[in-house]
Amino acid sequence: MCGITGYVGTEDCSSFLANSLKNLEYRGYDSVGVALLDGTLQVNKQSGQIDDLSLPSTTEATCGIGHTRWSTHGPPTDENAHPHTDCHGEISIVHNGIISNYGDHKRDLALTHEFTSDTDSEVIAHLLEEELVDDTDLPQAVRKVVEKLEGSFAIAVAVAGYDGIVAARQDSPLVVGHTDTAKFLASDITAFVEQTRTVTFLEDGDVAHLTEDNLSITNDGAVVERDRQTVDWDADAAEKSGYEHYMHKEIHEQPHAVRQSLSGRIDSLTGDVDLDIDAPIEYWKSIQEIQIVACGTSNYAARYAAELLETHTNLRVTVHVASEYEYRTSYDPWETLVIAVTQSGETADTLQALRMAVDSGARTLAVTNTVGSTVTREVDQTLYIRAGPEIGVAATKTFASQIVTLTLFTIHLGRQRDELESETATELLKNLHDLPEAIQTVLDGESQVRRLAERFAHSDAFFYIGRRLGHPVALEGALKLKEISYDHAEGFPGGELKHGPLALVTDQTPVIALLTPGSEPDEMAKNIKEVQAREAPVIGIGVRGEASETLDTFLGLPNLGYITPVLANVYLQLFAYHIANEKGRAIDKPRNLAKSVTVE
Ligand code: F6R
Repeated sequence: MCGITGYVGTEDCSSFLANSLKNLEYRGYDSVGVALLDGTLQVNKQSGQIDDLSLPSTTEATCGIGHTRWSTHGPPTDENAHPHTDCHGEISIVHNGIISNYGDHKRDLALTHEFTSDTDSEVIAHLLEEELVDDTDLPQAVRKVVEKLEGSFAIAVAVAGYDGIVAARQDSPLVVGHTDTAKFLASDITAFVEQTRTVTFLEDGDVAHLTEDNLSITNDGAVVERDRQTVDWDADAAEKSGYEHYMHKEIHEQPHAVRQSLSGRIDSLTGDVDLDIDAPIEYWKSIQEIQIVACGTSNYAARYAAELLETHTNLRVTVHVASEYEYRTSYDPWETLVIAVTQSGETADTLQALRMAVDSGARTLAVTNTVGSTVTREVDQTLYIRAGPEIGVAATKTFASQIVTLTLFTIHLGRQRDELESETATELLKNLHDLPEAIQTVLDGESQVRRLAERFAHSDAFFYIGRRLGHPVALEGALKLKEISYDHAEGFPGGELKHGPLALVTDQTPVIALLTPGSEPDEMAKNIKEVQAREAPVIGIGVRGEASETLDTFLGLPNLGYITPVLANVYLQLFAYHIANEKGRAIDKPRNLAKSVTVE
């Protein structure tokens, strides 16, 4: 998984490429490089991050491509960094994805070509070198190369002596930005949102030729037109706004993100919601079962929502870890709705599970944050969570927005199916409506969490326990801590402790207990006693009540009914953030992880 950028226009592009690569670092950050065209081709690349790359401060180049890498084939070395070139250093390519048949090509090409990297991507440069011997039409030559590739890819190509950039996509995102004097290319709008918000999303099979004043696209050899769209993400939204880390900024953006998720979608008087998903009432009534596929944080958000969906729609709802979906032995797609929950819309495991569902004839819905992402092209309907760009590798605001959006969907479905009373819907909507302000109160209590983090930063194992809606939040809290602090953290249902994990609890194991409405706080009180008997320090989070009396550390919350655990999660995000910060971790770029996991 990697980030691609490109520019063709009238100005020196080196600083644009450097800035855009910085904006794309969330897609990968173990090596970086650019190719600049100013008549000849100059390639600068190395392992490390964009700040480590020495670029000339000014150049004559008005066309160039760039890449930030997250290794899949070959370690993060200077040689394996992109752009890759042909034998003569005249053709440069950058690639995101995996070329699954690269081994066969490399074996054939190696007889006459010199390879300098371990990557799958380098074969593209040499295949293109072969094509350009007989064919001087660059887009056509790229098309011929692409026909020989299997796997997933987004590719950008710049060649000495040729005008502009040629790009191609198959299962990996690419978007073109337009101004009057330039064209921009990137894996994601974030790369060039400071320059333009007028964009064209490329589709699978597209080969695009970008010149200073033109974008021409072919698909399967035929010329195609793709719409220009205006996106509403502004440049500010993609920057850190004074926070030291994107993750911290994004935790604080949650009131705004939730407001966006709700905006224009609720009628608190009637208990109805308007979700811009277009299907007749019979469609919703005929659904017999819901299956949700998702990974990581999105999976935990789905588990939370599944409980609400099952309660309020009277349907069987199951949540699947997307990478495990294919191993099921029985599958009845009849009247089944499969929902893919994915922030990026590009997670390979989720797409793979979704494609199985599509192939077997299920109905499909995507719940995603990313307009124009791959998932949106493959489903019957899409519901956007509208959280805005999330750059920090650790998902934060999107977890809240996913739950809010899925709760709106629950209300929609419950009402359409006559399973949800208007009063219950109105109460849920009121809780959602009050959520942004309540999150703000939690954020205002950040100093208390910072002090707790200072107190527990030396611990190297943490347990998170919760029941019912508290369980997915416990899992999410533990995931957040482990991925950014590298401490061992586990989430359990409270009742499971005594079946094994209790053996690990000592006076050195902080236990974080979810005691919110929806987390069965009375039952949880028994589990707290079990760990207190082992002298474990306990941090309770919930609405003040009997259970809180027995704890010396308690983080209080407003009561928002079954939405309250989302509030508790904000404390858990802050706790993880401050522990990791105490330890000086690379919070926005945790080791071994990347934001958008486009490999299975
Ligand atoms: C954890 C995290 C990951 C993602 C997972 C799915 O903080 O960010 O666990 O949630 O990789 O990603 P999406 O939602 O883009 O499919």
